Amino acid sequence: MALVNGNEIFKNARAGKYAVGAFNTNNLEWTRAILAAAEETKTPILIQTSMGAAKYMGGYELCLHLVQDTVKSMGITVPVVMHLDHGNYEAAKECIKVGYNSVMFDGHDLPFAENLEKTKEIVKLAHAQGMSVEAEVGSIGGTEDGITGAGELASVEEAQTLAATGVDYLACGIGNIHGVYPANWQGLNFDRLQEIAAAVQTPLVLHGGSGIPKEQIVKAISLGISKVNVNTECQLAFAKATRQYVEAGKDQDIDAKGYDPRKLLAPGTEAIKETVKERIAWFGTPAV
Ligand code: 13P
Repeated sequence: MALVNGNEIFKNARAGKYAVGAFNTNNLEWTRAILAAAEETKTPILIQTSMGAAKYMGGYELCLHLVQDTVKSMGITVPVVMHLDHGNYEAAKECIKVGYNSVMFDGHDLPFAENLEKTKEIVKLAHAQGMSVEAEVGSIGGTEDGITGAGELASVEEAQTLAATGVDYLACGIGNIHGVYPANWQGLNFDRLQEIAAAVQTPLVLHGGSGIPKEQIVKAISLGISKVNVNTECQLAFAKATRQYVEAGKDQDIDAKGYDPRKLLAPGTEAIKETVKERIAWFGTPAV
């Protein structure tokens, strides 16, 4: 199946009380693992690139071609959305030009009036090309790819105002944090989530999906979260499996050519796939 616009896979999510996972890719192995997990579970999925990961891989066009060509070569049959994660204004415009299916314009660090104006512009540009748009209100705590948020709770009024721009999904700060959660984390703010969900019909996005206990994710989905972003969890799974391979001395097995990257990277790739499959089950994403 060709890549699709985000709206198609989210249209029943809020009413159906399920979410679709958005998983960050870093390279070929990541891309293959995420797509394999979606295909094996027969569920739709978003693959997203942060600005930093796209720079690391060689640019947005390369990332788009990587995903498009891998979808084709693996014979993927489920809907896949190529999405820009936490883009600034320039990155969002570039991904629209390059042909992503969906972009996040993250204007949380701008004065709200400017976030609103720029979100409107991105919505206009993206919708003219049949692409979907995610915006952010409040902020996600922690640091991802050098972008740090203090973890400010989203205001219900601002969420309503941003939703009225016609964005297709809305990320709201509800106590969520990128990266590993600190031991003293207070948990998700379900009261604020309920207030926002009551005020806007737009599918809501939970960033920082790694390390949140399953019960809290399931509850957040039941209250209106339709898209859950996961990055760190796959990185931890990949690092752990690779470490086990190396610590077992397998990379030093000359006869078995254990140093061959196709062998060295295989356990980590498998671990990403299993992590993604587990999350898909938590999110209750229905098979297509
Ligand atoms: P984690 O790295 O905490 O899973 O966050 C991912 C994310 O929200 C990407 O935007």
